[in-house]
Amino acid sequence: MEKLLYTGKAKQMWQTTDPDVLRVVYLDQATALNGKQKDHFVGKGAAANAISTLVFQYLINHGIKTHFLKKVAPNEDLVKKCQMFPLEFVTRNVVAGHFASRYGLQEGQLLVEPVEETFYKSDELDDPFINESATIALKIATHQEIVRMWNICREVNGLLKLLFAKAGLQLVDFKLEFGRLSNGEVVLADEFSPDNCRLWDLSTGQHMDKDVYRRQLADLTQTYAEVLERLQGAIEEE
Ligand code: C5P
Repeated sequence: MEKLLYTGKAKQMWQTTDPDVLRVVYLDQATALNGKQKDHFVGKGAAANAISTLVFQYLINHGIKTHFLKKVAPNEDLVKKCQMFPLEFVTRNVVAGHFASRYGLQEGQLLVEPVEETFYKSDELDDPFINESATIALKIATHQEIVRMWNICREVNGLLKLLFAKAGLQLVDFKLEFGRLSNGEVVLADEFSPDNCRLWDLSTGQHMDKDVYRRQLADLTQTYAEVLERLQGAIEEE
């Protein structure tokens, strides 16, 4: 019997009969303002999963270790079970979102160096900023694990900036999460979809990510379908 482990903002996690394998179900749902705003979108789960599967397979093919095993249905994947770090790793290539509002900047300026920010995942605390010494003091991760996670973030940024550029999209910023496998290995986990990155059309600057929902700019499912189509084209060209 499968057991529902939890329902998140956009996904459900199920324990399969194999203790080392979980089933992820992408929901037809989008949330904003840390879950305070929630809406239903038919086809959104399948589109986000299709994009995330393409990206994870691309990263695996380029040597990145991840939790991903295989896609088993349009909105379902099997992944290796891992103990998730309650951390969000945000990398920013361009000024946008909270980086713009926090420092009083206009969106759109290219950053000379990618900005790296870590947040402690907690809905009650509204995901506060956390630094390395606090992460170690709170026994969330060791120094070596933090170094490994940021190294993976940098590799992912290098690979995906180029891949999305081939799809005519600028990778503005993105959030990654990591987990620890039963053997202690730290791997990339969660997902990579327009739910957790910003993508701007390289020629028009049009938003092609969850900001279309957060800011009520365009249809969410249609936007994700276009990202998927462009990404498929870019990967086929390689
Ligand atoms: O909101 P902010 O500008 O800090 O977001 C930076 C990037 O991290 C965006 O791509 C956003 O989609 C992603 N993010 C996320 N989950 C959060 C916070 C941010 O996926 N809880």
